[in-house]
Amino acid sequence: MPVLNITGGPVSGTIRAHGAKNSILPILAATLLNRDVSVITNCPDLADVRSSLKILRHLGCKAEYADGTVTVDSSGVTRADIPEALMREMRSSVIFLGAVLARTGRADMSRPGGCELGTRPIDLHLAALKSMGAELSENGSDISCRASRLTGTEIILSFPSVGATENIMIAACAADGVTTVKNAAREPEIEDLQAYLRAMGADVTGGGTSTVCINGCMDKLRGAEHRVMPDRIETATYLCAAAMAGGRVTVEDAVPEHNSAVLSALSEAGCEISARRGAISLKRYKPLRPVRPVRTMPYPGFPTDAQSPLMSVCTRAGGVTVFTENIFESRFRHVGELARMGADIRIEGRVAVVFGVNKLYGARVKCEDLRGGAALVVAALGTEGVTTISHLTHIDRGYANLTENLTALGVNITRTP
Ligand code: EPZ
Repeated sequence: MPVLNITGGPVSGTIRAHGAKNSILPILAATLLNRDVSVITNCPDLADVRSSLKILRHLGCKAEYADGTVTVDSSGVTRADIPEALMREMRSSVIFLGAVLARTGRADMSRPGGCELGTRPIDLHLAALKSMGAELSENGSDISCRASRLTGTEIILSFPSVGATENIMIAACAADGVTTVKNAAREPEIEDLQAYLRAMGADVTGGGTSTVCINGCMDKLRGAEHRVMPDRIETATYLCAAAMAGGRVTVEDAVPEHNSAVLSALSEAGCEISARRGAISLKRYKPLRPVRPVRTMPYPGFPTDAQSPLMSVCTRAGGVTVFTENIFESRFRHVGELARMGADIRIEGRVAVVFGVNKLYGARVKCEDLRGGAALVVAALGTEGVTTISHLTHIDRGYANLTENLTALGVNITRTP
């Protein structure tokens, strides 16, 4: 099993953000809406991207990945089922539900199942598709959807679910009439999906706001080219790494306004941040300070995906920082591993209280989930000694070229088989 060996110490240098994992996945599903060829650029070579291509090939598409570009020929979709093994490979595979239903009029898949973050229900996805005319039958973990036709309607989401918003946008492209999504997720990835749908010729407006309108027009959709937006969570992770390690980092091809909440917290922690069009620079030479209570919220609030990397930073702050995780029911799995490195954190339900300590020590730790694993990498940069991190498949889902990037920042890191 491969492990990362990281020696703590300051960083210095420039890296470039990859394309956003959480934008690529719904866009790849949306390629099923046309019977043409789409070219998606700025795609990092991630496990979740490879899993999505496997699903597209299973459905009958031709899907190739080369040098950051994904080419999908969706002219020949021949199936409407996604086998359980593929559903389990990538938890967010439920994003294919709306696309397969829109393309074929049916969709058979198993529930994606829970993951390290909790049960991950999909009730909002299913209720929305049902309100558009889909007939759903469930037996145990299998879901069968049938929709000879989908009809536009008004959908009010009880929670601004990112995945549900995306599934509705995609399915509504095939519906007769207008679908309005209220209390829609406002994450930048929604805007990016809208940009690809519009490039295909779809009539979608409001992406990035609480109300998204889709006027169905399936038959006129064509293949399109789209460059995926930069990954704001990868960017936030590297900024936290520099905050923890001390020194400076510049992240090129980043979008400062996508990270406002994270930049505000890091500035409070004692970092000097400068942002210009297309890049964010962070310097930290002063001692880390605690941050006012951090509450994870839907965008534009503090992103749940950056909670654990920032928590790692706060383990070394000269005071107490309180985190409240409002989005997922189990997103503190990294705390036990941080404690092995000397961190002092108390968990009370959805609240974690971080008492800053003077030192963290290199230790053997393991990734429990994607962003929790990233938090261990961040923490390792602020320790005395060498930290060995195992169970890297979690990290490999969301961080391309991690070893190369940290090496470019001057970090002593090796990945051993
Ligand atoms: C997306 O997950 C992201 N994943 C997550 O990133 C991210 O943390 C999350 O949005 C929030 O920003 C992808 O885009 C692939 P949600 P998603 O639906 O769509 C509840 C990462 O680390 N909910 O907004 O699953 C749900 O249980 C990953 O890159 C329902 O109750 O998030 C959760 O508590 C992790 N019913 C909350 O809403 C539903 O039908 C947010 O979920 C759907 C969701």
